[in-house]
Amino acid sequence: VPSLPGVDRLGTDEVARAAASACELSIPAIAIFPATDPNLKTEDAREATNPNNLICQTVRRIKQEVGDELGVICDVALDPYSSHGHDGLVRDGEVINDETIDVLCQQSLVQAQAGCDVIAPSDMMDGRIGRIRSALDSEGFSTVQIMSYAAKYASAFYGPFRDAVGSGSNLGGASKLTYQQSPTQSNEALHEVSLDLQEGADSVMVKPGMPYLDIVERVSSEFQVPTFVYQVSGEYAMLSAAAERGWLDRRQTVLESLTAFKRAGAAGVLTYFAAEVASWLREG
Ligand code: PBG
Repeated sequence: VPSLPGVDRLGTDEVARAAASACELSIPAIAIFPATDPNLKTEDAREATNPNNLICQTVRRIKQEVGDELGVICDVALDPYSSHGHDGLVRDGEVINDETIDVLCQQSLVQAQAGCDVIAPSDMMDGRIGRIRSALDSEGFSTVQIMSYAAKYASAFYGPFRDAVGSGSNLGGASKLTYQQSPTQSNEALHEVSLDLQEGADSVMVKPGMPYLDIVERVSSEFQVPTFVYQVSGEYAMLSAAAERGWLDRRQTVLESLTAFKRAGAAGVLTYFAAEVASWLREG
């Protein structure tokens, strides 16, 4: 991915090898995202609920390779599958919350059936955590966890990720501000987290990371629940680009950024640097 130097799109077998090496590095879990064939992207994002889509095939392949040694986290949102690049269904130019949730429940179920351990809704529709929890429970997946992207900001730091899954050009400059949070808001994040916890989220995610350390701190100290932080693609790109030019020391700045998350109260970090950092930590 040109805007994420060092990050590659992998085929199913390559993902299985990466999963095995993550296990060796004692990384507890990986999150996978699909680069969907543009011909399969539709207005209604129906490929998201295909039990044989790229994500479901890949989950089965990972589990074949590493079993329960490694947790597999699957994103729930429609943007990698929709022709408009939005996380939800669109009608008359608006993302429609309630109809979207039906599709998200179906997407969660096919991923759980494929064997994923953690369902991670990153779509930010209101009320989806409770509905997904009931859908999973009623189909016999009560042990599948839900990690809610509860405090997710409408951030320009997602740019390189949108290049990676090919949703950026579909979105064509449209904003996600009707469902993601405004970067100007702080209390709203606590409100969103509290709703998702009431609906049954097992853990919550704050995203992006470094520009939102205050939110990580507020959420983890207020709720005392497992609070994760996502060091997003733009954060990876910034640190990588500066290190590539010799402007920053890659190892020291990356470790310092992760230490900052820990200091703010994060229980875990989702980061594109994971494998590299795990091998540094192994070196001691
Ligand atoms: C969307 C989704 C996004 C990311 C993860 N899931 C982007 C967006 O909301 O447009 C971004 C992650 C990153 O930047 O690394 N469901």
